[in-house]
Amino acid sequence: MSVISVVDIENASGVLNIGQKDILTPLAADRAKELGVKIVRDGQKQPAGAAQASAGASSRAAAGQRVPRARGPAPPPPDKVNSGAMSAALYRRGAPLPQALRLDALVGARASNDAPAAAVLTPTGPRDRRPSVAVIGAGHVGSMSALRLTESSLFSRTVLIDIVPGLASGLALDMWHSSALRGFSTRIEGSTELSAVQGADYVVMTAGRPRQPGMSRTDLTSVNAEIISNVADAIRTYAPRAVVVVVTNPLEEMTHIMAARTGFPPERVIGMAGVLDSARFCSLVALTGIAQPRDIKAIALGSHGAEMVIPLSQATANGRPLELQLPADELTAIVERTRDSGAEVVKLLQKGSAYFSPAESAAAMVCAMVTGGDSTIAACVQSRGAYAVADTRVGLPVRLGPGGVSEIVNLALTRGERADLAKAAASIAARISALG
Ligand code: APR
Repeated sequence: MSVISVVDIENASGVLNIGQKDILTPLAADRAKELGVKIVRDGQKQPAGAAQASAGASSRAAAGQRVPRARGPAPPPPDKVNSGAMSAALYRRGAPLPQALRLDALVGARASNDAPAAAVLTPTGPRDRRPSVAVIGAGHVGSMSALRLTESSLFSRTVLIDIVPGLASGLALDMWHSSALRGFSTRIEGSTELSAVQGADYVVMTAGRPRQPGMSRTDLTSVNAEIISNVADAIRTYAPRAVVVVVTNPLEEMTHIMAARTGFPPERVIGMAGVLDSARFCSLVALTGIAQPRDIKAIALGSHGAEMVIPLSQATANGRPLELQLPADELTAIVERTRDSGAEVVKLLQKGSAYFSPAESAAAMVCAMVTGGDSTIAACVQSRGAYAVADTRVGLPVRLGPGGVSEIVNLALTRGERADLAKAAASIAARISALG
């Protein structure tokens, strides 16, 4: 079974043969109508002499299935590809206007008193080879993550998805309106449908319910577990090769459920917590005045909560060990404040929770995957024997690459730090096994 995408439609000419069980997305169906591509399911009669192509070849190959050879797929006519005429379904989902209707074109049109008409649409350019990203949940963290990712211009498009009608589309359109000012080229669109995750190379999962007064951790876990499970099913179906970054809390449990439900390999399901906790620690150390935040290096491991481990043996300011620059009791207080940072923000806000720094952290992780590089960051990953801790999802030092986790890095932690990490892993493992 393959998912037939808009790309498959645009690569076809005349007729597209698909399998009996292939899924044709609404977006692809719309695009087929627009381009006059006839969809023929296996067993259906085809018009004589029509040019044919097979869809979903790449996804079938990835799934190890037989890839039918496309019989003489004629190159798509230039007026059908990149015509700039976007699918009606895309517009409904808040897709940005085509190139010619961007701010500069609109300003020009207004100046000459001409209303922008369909005739002014121009091609959007050659096919964009940058990866695409989907952000699930257009709340505080999701919308800010989407903006950061979009502004990086590392992606061909960002899709923002939320269950609340109009929310993701409205925010996406609003963000796109800033493209001429910020100078980004990533297209952003919104949707209420999880199927809009289709073909995403990266997915940031932020959807969830916040913890309400009187709600226990277990209550929150079961509510968000249901949301994660639905989203995981959609990711597995529509974006089977994606790398997923989980932000929804409780972090370790949600990362575990996402991995279990998608069935994706461990390197492609990663929890976001360590980047945020490390950054919070560095920012708080900087308040002492010994260095600028960016010149402080530290890594937060273990859990995103009480069992957070910040190995001071690895922490430096301006390249010198932090332990030589600040008294031990002051460092201990900063570690504790870091652990409680989320709660500190919640208490100040009185309503809602932190989102600037969590969103920045999630976006930074995805950008790090796209750009590669060899920096070591903390992330919630499957330990698989590393650091001799329980085999569970736990915050460890990793390197990221285009396919997710490329390596778990072995830092020279002290014996005490290793023991703390093992304790954190054991505690997370117990929580995960309690999920059943
Ligand atoms: N599908 C899509 N979106 C959903 C679904 C769903 N099944 N369920 C909820 N949502 C959306 C909500 O409509 C809301 O817009 O998820 C969004 C959550 O946004 P906020 O309540 O603003 O929460 P936010 O502050 O963004 O935090 C999201 O990140 O840091 C964690 O603890 C935090 O788990 C929380 C998550």
